[in-house]
Amino acid sequence: MKRYYIETYGCQMNVADSELVSGLMEQSGYVPAESEYEADAIFLNTCAIREHAEEKIHSRLGTLRKLKEGRPETIIGLLGCMAQHVKDDILEHKSYVDFVLGPDSYRRLPALLRRQKETANSIVDTRLSRFEVYENLYPSRNEGINAWVSIMRGCDKFCTFCIVPFTRGRERSRIMASIVEEVEQAVAQGFVEITLLGQNVNSYRSEGSRFPELLHAVSEVPAVERIRFTSPHPQDVDDEMLFVMRDRPNICNSVHLPLQAGSDRILNRMNRTYTKSEFISLAERIRHILPGCGLSTDIIAGFPGETEEEFAQTLEVMERVNFDSAFTFKYSPRPGTKAEEYSNHISEEVKQGRLQQLIELQARHTLERNQNEIGKTVKVLVEKESKKSSADWAGRTDNNKWVIFPKGAAQIRDLTDVRIVAAKGVSLFGELAQIGEMPHAVA
Ligand code: 5AD
Ligand code: SF4
Repeated sequence: MKRYYIETYGCQMNVADSELVSGLMEQSGYVPAESEYEADAIFLNTCAIREHAEEKIHSRLGTLRKLKEGRPETIIGLLGCMAQHVKDDILEHKSYVDFVLGPDSYRRLPALLRRQKETANSIVDTRLSRFEVYENLYPSRNEGINAWVSIMRGCDKFCTFCIVPFTRGRERSRIMASIVEEVEQAVAQGFVEITLLGQNVNSYRSEGSRFPELLHAVSEVPAVERIRFTSPHPQDVDDEMLFVMRDRPNICNSVHLPLQAGSDRILNRMNRTYTKSEFISLAERIRHILPGCGLSTDIIAGFPGETEEEFAQTLEVMERVNFDSAFTFKYSPRPGTKAEEYSNHISEEVKQGRLQQLIELQARHTLERNQNEIGKTVKVLVEKESKKSSADWAGRTDNNKWVIFPKGAAQIRDLTDVRIVAAKGVSLFGELAQIGEMPHAVA
């Protein structure tokens, strides 16, 4: 029996893609390996979003080269967003890599594995497709309570800092009926939470249907306890989407709303298509229609040309919106993007200083928002054992906050009432609500 091993870097889309590749490998007669040392085929599913992500892959390839010296028959494949970027380097200098496959080429994998036996050269396919959505492929899902379901691929927004439109190509959506069918299958396999995925998840459109209709259809699948989705673009958030979220109890009350920057000039240079005040109004509108909604965001520090005053506006938007959590990044120039060609790149020290300010402000907001939850009884989906103690469970609230609480009689997959007693760092701490205890009102 041949064994495969996949290491996944980057976003959830890559996690879902790795599950597709696992499905293809298993159809080809391979079984999963416990580690790279036991694998006949090793894949790195790569990320190109920031330079640091690429550096990690280069150093990992160095280790795999040594592994292959000892076991020359091992197949090494590089998949995903870095494919295009590294293909010349691989062809010229890294012949120990057997395949380089871009995000739209995974269907070729079984045929390539067979062909591999006849050729010593690296095989490279980084072509992007206008149509490939991997319909009719069966992902081999990682165990757990959450199933990732990819609903659209690619991005047409072309934010000037972002490599994704180049690495993953044009936007295309799956047919609604097949998404619903995949959700039904996931539920039949025991998954209780569904996360709909896309680079621009809410610009989904297929055969006249748009994202709110898809959300509604998925929420009607029996036994789906929770539905989440990521990552939306503010431009495509509309009332219809918010109304479906409000009206369907199993759609979670949380929205990821990437801000990126707070000043109108920088937003414009980023090609983000909204202004500072439009963003703030949208956040207010979300909280108005969806009271208690968890709001998370992405923010970039030190975009080319960003002045101190402009950066201060990012902090100001954060103060106004009070996000529940934020992913914060230093701007990282990506070859081939428009922003990389802009003048006035910001020094590493200034970027680092600004990033630190973002982190500190968000830590304060997260704690404040979490302290508001203390005393409430909230529904928590029990997901896994706490990393810190085998006596505790970890699960998330509807509005996407992690809660740690003593196990008691609760089991994994239970949607259970937990009374929040404390907030520390980014987590909440709670205790199982007593049976018969009146739940506190949830604001
Ligand atoms: N530099 C820094 N952060 C970036 N992101 C995307 N491209 C870059 C870049 N070149 C961030 C954005 C995006 C998140 C997924 O990654 O904030 O929303
Ligand atoms: Fe990148 Fe912007 Fe597309 Fe998101 S919307 S993937 S940040 S180009």
